[in-house]
Amino acid sequence: MIMERQDLMEKVTALAKRRGFVYPSSELYGGLGGLYDYGPYGVALRRNIRGLWWRHVVDLRDDVVGLEATILAPEAVWVASGHTVNFTDPLVECRGECKQRFRADHLEDTERCPVCGGPLSEPRRFNMMFKTHVGPVEDTASVAYLRPETAQGMFVNFKNVLNSMRVRVPFGIAQQGRSFRNEITHGNFIFRLREFEQMEMEFFVQPGEDERWHAFWIEERLRWYTDVLGIRAERLRLREHEADERAHYAKASTDIEYLFPFGWGELEGVANRTDFDLRTHQEHSGQDLTYQDPETNERYLPYVVEPAVGVDRIMITCLLDAYDEEEVKGETRVLLRLHRDVAPVQVAVMPLSKKEELIGPARGVQRALQTGFRVEYDQTGGNIGRRYRRQDEIGTPFCVTVDFDTLEDRAVTIRERDSMEQERVPVAGLLDRLRERFA
Ligand code: GAP
Repeated sequence: MIMERQDLMEKVTALAKRRGFVYPSSELYGGLGGLYDYGPYGVALRRNIRGLWWRHVVDLRDDVVGLEATILAPEAVWVASGHTVNFTDPLVECRGECKQRFRADHLEDTERCPVCGGPLSEPRRFNMMFKTHVGPVEDTASVAYLRPETAQGMFVNFKNVLNSMRVRVPFGIAQQGRSFRNEITHGNFIFRLREFEQMEMEFFVQPGEDERWHAFWIEERLRWYTDVLGIRAERLRLREHEADERAHYAKASTDIEYLFPFGWGELEGVANRTDFDLRTHQEHSGQDLTYQDPETNERYLPYVVEPAVGVDRIMITCLLDAYDEEEVKGETRVLLRLHRDVAPVQVAVMPLSKKEELIGPARGVQRALQTGFRVEYDQTGGNIGRRYRRQDEIGTPFCVTVDFDTLEDRAVTIRERDSMEQERVPVAGLLDRLRERFA
């Protein structure tokens, strides 16, 4: 790497906008802090991340089922879950010139404003949920909240899933979807957002089995980052929460952290939520949420182990981990060394020139490869070198070039992103050869 780590966030942020991954939301009107839109390559990257999570957490297991619950839920849900009282951050305000607001637990000096040096107020609890009203009358009965976590959807549907599916403890309910938090301080690009997407799984276990399953899911999730997403192991670590930093529902919690340019930060949390949520929903709703073991007839409220992560946070991790620069023939080559399963485009097909006789064969190659890969066809102007660089910047593992020799020898050139090595391959064997190279 020829760049300083502190430059990395800036470079990745610029590349993400330049190459259609991430745009500031409502930028035309000055934007709104902590909100971002995702462009075409960002959408593709996120779909791949979601798909790989779902495959490994749900599809490859026979003890996890899916759910999609609403984003809006009535106040009663959040009173029961404890979020109306406990889902707060300590807010301090500058009493000096700048009047800015900060999270007290993010400040080293809680007396002086980090911007203008003015005195800071005493911390007060600030609830991070977005409140709204459902229906035409804004009275107390119509109060609803945008969910700050997807998890509650799984708890309030626990009995529905139990009664409609053939599930037995231990089993999990998984969900992917948007969550909303009115974060006091957002920032570090898409690391901390006010609207983001979570992927959470509530794994219901017999009390007493919870610690074993907690350890299992910590290892399982850590391995997913290295083996499935290809994130560098040396930039990942586990960190157990101290008692005073645990969420109000957790008995124990371990973060999977990544070494971001600003230091170690939470990528995913794996919590032991005990029976806190089922118990509180049982109490508040008056409904029996216990589970009866069909073999022993024992009745109990299951404990819950929860791996919870944000798509946006995985996305920024993938981009930062993959970003690289190297010197090639006196010029800087920028590339994303994204894992082949994560890359928005897997193969780019390019005719060497816009001449008619090359376009037919190139389109034929594109159609053949689309049966096995995510393919982009690129015949835009610019020499082939410039088109390779563009694909390097979006992380495309292979480019396939159709040139004038193709018309004679029925062969094309495969160019690999990381090594830039080229290989001449017959069109007839191209799909198989690429499958081999992706394996
Ligand atoms: N249900 C448990 C829960 O929500 P959390 O640690 O608050 O736990 C889980 O959030 C994950 O969601 C985090 O590890 C992070 O990946 C993501 N996340 C949380 N707040 C976020 C935010 N403001 N912006 C982006 N991602 C966020």
